Amino acid sequence: MTILDQIAAAGTLPDLDAVRVAALGKSGEITALLKSLGGMTPEQRAVDGPKIHARREEVTRAIAARKTELEAAELDARLATERLDLSLPAREMPRGSVHPVSQVMDELTEIFADMGFAVAEGPEIEDDWHNFTALNIPETHPARAMHDTFYVNARTAAGDDYLAGEHERPMVLRTHTSPVQIRTMLGQKPPIRIIAPGRVYRSDSDATHTPMFHQIEGLVIDKGITMGHLKWTLETFLKAFFERDDIVIRLRPSYFPFTEPSAEIDIGWSMEKGRRVVGGSEGWMEVLGSGMVHRTVIEACGLDPAEWQGFAFGTGVDRLAMLKYGMSDLRAFFDGDLRWMKHYGFSALDVPTLSGGVGA
Ligand code: DAH
Repeated sequence: MTILDQIAAAGTLPDLDAVRVAALGKSGEITALLKSLGGMTPEQRAVDGPKIHARREEVTRAIAARKTELEAAELDARLATERLDLSLPAREMPRGSVHPVSQVMDELTEIFADMGFAVAEGPEIEDDWHNFTALNIPETHPARAMHDTFYVNARTAAGDDYLAGEHERPMVLRTHTSPVQIRTMLGQKPPIRIIAPGRVYRSDSDATHTPMFHQIEGLVIDKGITMGHLKWTLETFLKAFFERDDIVIRLRPSYFPFTEPSAEIDIGWSMEKGRRVVGGSEGWMEVLGSGMVHRTVIEACGLDPAEWQGFAFGTGVDRLAMLKYGMSDLRAFFDGDLRWMKHYGFSALDVPTLSGGVGA
């Protein structure tokens, strides 16, 4: 077989390389011809030289061409075996799960977005002006002590208070999401309709309290807002969240420094198969704090309370999750126990939507 036939017959890249070595390698056939040029007379070399070089060119080109062919064939074969049939059912579902707090926050966002509320955010390390003073909780107010506040003592190497906020006040880990009300009113013009879900911190720990937990705040500022708007909004929200039409709420007069009047929202419960469930009105339990935004708070944000009114509300997200999905110990929420997550977590595909149902 001639070298060119051998090249054409090589079926794999290693076969082809063997042919190359036999022809062009150190002791290859064509290499030997090239070496023979040295022993020739100039006349003979003038005749044979171009022929030998042409031969080497021809063989080199044939090898390169065959190599390209073999590589393409090899790629085709690999692609054929690696092809994925995307219409096949998944053999294994994703193993992670969505934490109930994340799930409930998504549910809340979905419900309130449908009512025209935007999501607002604020820092978890907050200055005490936003966390307390602007919310009508002055320094001497007993509510400051009630909140079991974590104070943050952060200084630069030079001893400067580098975390001091705009108001040069001590910094705290925010004790509630209510400071987001202040930041929103300062940062945007009314009308305002926001919810602010997020982490809050208090120095407290037992079966129903953890040092970090989650709240959601709501704020509406507009003209001519009344407690009727507050009641409708919260009733509509609770019906959508618990996915029951027989939700009954009760407004109980209460006190919060930042609202006047203030009301605690109780939700009715009834016994179903020996278990307390929301719906009906055999008994009551508190689910939200709320009220009409205090004129002092509206003024602190530079708005005229004669022109702008509003309502606000706040509640614990973890508690809402416990009520809806039946967990009994809040501490387990933050233990990171995978068995708990497997039991109470949600599939990544359980995206809450109003049309599909916000509950999983
Ligand atoms: N900030 C309150 C708390 O942490 C909850 C609250 C009550 C928020 C009444 C409000 C409200 O906006 O109007 O206990």
